[in-house]
Amino acid sequence: AESFKYNNQKGTGGELHQSPENAKQMMTTAQGCPVKDDQNSLKIGSRGPTLLEDHILREKIFHFDHERIPERVVHARGYGAHGYFETYDAYSDLTCADLFQRKGEQTPVFVRFSTVAGNMGSPDLARDVRGFAVKFYTKEGNWDLVGNNIPVFFIQDAMKFPDLVHAAKQEPDRGFPQAQTAHDNFWDFTSLTPESIHMLMWAMSDRAIPRSFRFMEGFGVHTFKFINSSNEEKYVKFHWKPKSGLQSVVWNEALKINGADPDFHRRDLWNAIDAGDYPEWELGVQVFDQRFADKFKFDVFDSTKLIPEEDVPVQKIGKLVLNKMVDNFFAETEQVAFCTQNIVPGIDFTPDPLLQGRNFSYLDTQTKRLGGPNFTHIPINAPRCPMRHFQQDGHMAMHNPKGRVNYEPNSWDRDENNPRACATRGYQSSSQPVEGDKLRYRSKTFADHYSQAIQFYNSQTQVEQRHIKDAFIFELSKVQTPAIRERVVSHLMNVDESLAKGVAQGLGIPSLPEKAETAMPPQTDLKI
Ligand code: HEM
Repeated sequence: AESFKYNNQKGTGGELHQSPENAKQMMTTAQGCPVKDDQNSLKIGSRGPTLLEDHILREKIFHFDHERIPERVVHARGYGAHGYFETYDAYSDLTCADLFQRKGEQTPVFVRFSTVAGNMGSPDLARDVRGFAVKFYTKEGNWDLVGNNIPVFFIQDAMKFPDLVHAAKQEPDRGFPQAQTAHDNFWDFTSLTPESIHMLMWAMSDRAIPRSFRFMEGFGVHTFKFINSSNEEKYVKFHWKPKSGLQSVVWNEALKINGADPDFHRRDLWNAIDAGDYPEWELGVQVFDQRFADKFKFDVFDSTKLIPEEDVPVQKIGKLVLNKMVDNFFAETEQVAFCTQNIVPGIDFTPDPLLQGRNFSYLDTQTKRLGGPNFTHIPINAPRCPMRHFQQDGHMAMHNPKGRVNYEPNSWDRDENNPRACATRGYQSSSQPVEGDKLRYRSKTFADHYSQAIQFYNSQTQVEQRHIKDAFIFELSKVQTPAIRERVVSHLMNVDESLAKGVAQGLGIPSLPEKAETAMPPQTDLKI
């Protein structure tokens, strides 16, 4: 202790007296140069000016100046934790995905929960969808299941995603509202986009204000494919079921909690894991074949529709346990990069036009957000299995090819630095035959926008139905353009007339508008 004294003599600032025993505590610059005085810049005389020569000051301020990276364009506010996924059984009949082959096997995971519309500093209990993104570090690469806490989505085609997000986030002139759907642009867009009505019903329900992340369901939303080692294909929808049950708060509570503790959800997760009360979810799958898809009333590639659990039961195949908080929020929670295209042998995409757009979008945005093509070298994103490829260089390259070989085919000796593709175990896309003309077109099988909205509303208890009505009234009361409010009510007329009447009454709309056209084609009406 004697050899490690803080010297606070007036005028000299703090100074560490070093000896070999405490060298590990010695502050250095980023270049490793030991620092003698971290309190004072280098000046001429006792009162300056400060010298440009002060490399220690310059390095410190330079690094601080560059601390911020762009926040995510959506899902900016999030909170992550580590854990594992454990299979209940071996599922080789369903899929050859390595993580599902052995009963009781654990796969490490990183999970990030998020809100969608709010900025990084927005409150946790906004009425919003919640992201539920899981990165499985499997022995055959990372599989990202990038889902939400609501099983359907606002739009059917990725073409509309930038419009949806522009309309949902703050308006470009005034810069508000920052974390709410209560504004003209959002309701203007969604009421002109009838496919969003099903999702709107969920978003106005108690589902959109979870009590905490621990009491939330999660959904992969899209239909994916499972492929087994005999090349048999099945469709699959993924579900996360919280073991502690599904719980929400009411709007009144949400408003108070947001004011008293805008970090309520992240604090809840931190406290639970810190106390050893590890939250758990079960992974469920709805597995169905082409025959079911062909006779199902809706298109299974339409992300605004779900498959009722009564039609295809959810089979639980494993559990997710979150048991470790991050060591560093920025390094892990901020830098983690989920992407729907991160997939492993045994799982495949479907032609869902929303999923197809997502597969491009994540990689593209992360290349910008994380500063170049090498963000898979960041530890939170790096697979925990061997990576062998010939990708090289670029900003921040950490793992370049070793030796002389960086191309294929080549005639050099094969070893771990000279890999080749593997016909038997390499990723194989499903072989579904496809033919047709190139068209910009929305399939007629995507056209029924109301049936499932009605089904959802009818599945709610009376209290929950009242909450939905109150939510529409509250959100629309912030909308200043009467025609937009009325257009929303005209859609509600197709869902439930008493709901529409209640909302109209709450908003002081004197007479009920006509029902919205039910088969409104989502096509442009501009003819040149
Ligand atoms: C985040 C695009 C639809 C779930 C993001 C990000 C983008 C994006 C650009 C930010 C990623 C980053 O900076 O790391 C899109 C597009 C969509 C779409 C283009 C539709 C065409 C969806 C849907 C879901 C979803 C349907 C749910 C099934 C998420 C989640 C995150 C996210 C959970 C946050 C991931 C994290 O925690 O880092 N999305 N998204 N997105 N998206 Fe989507």
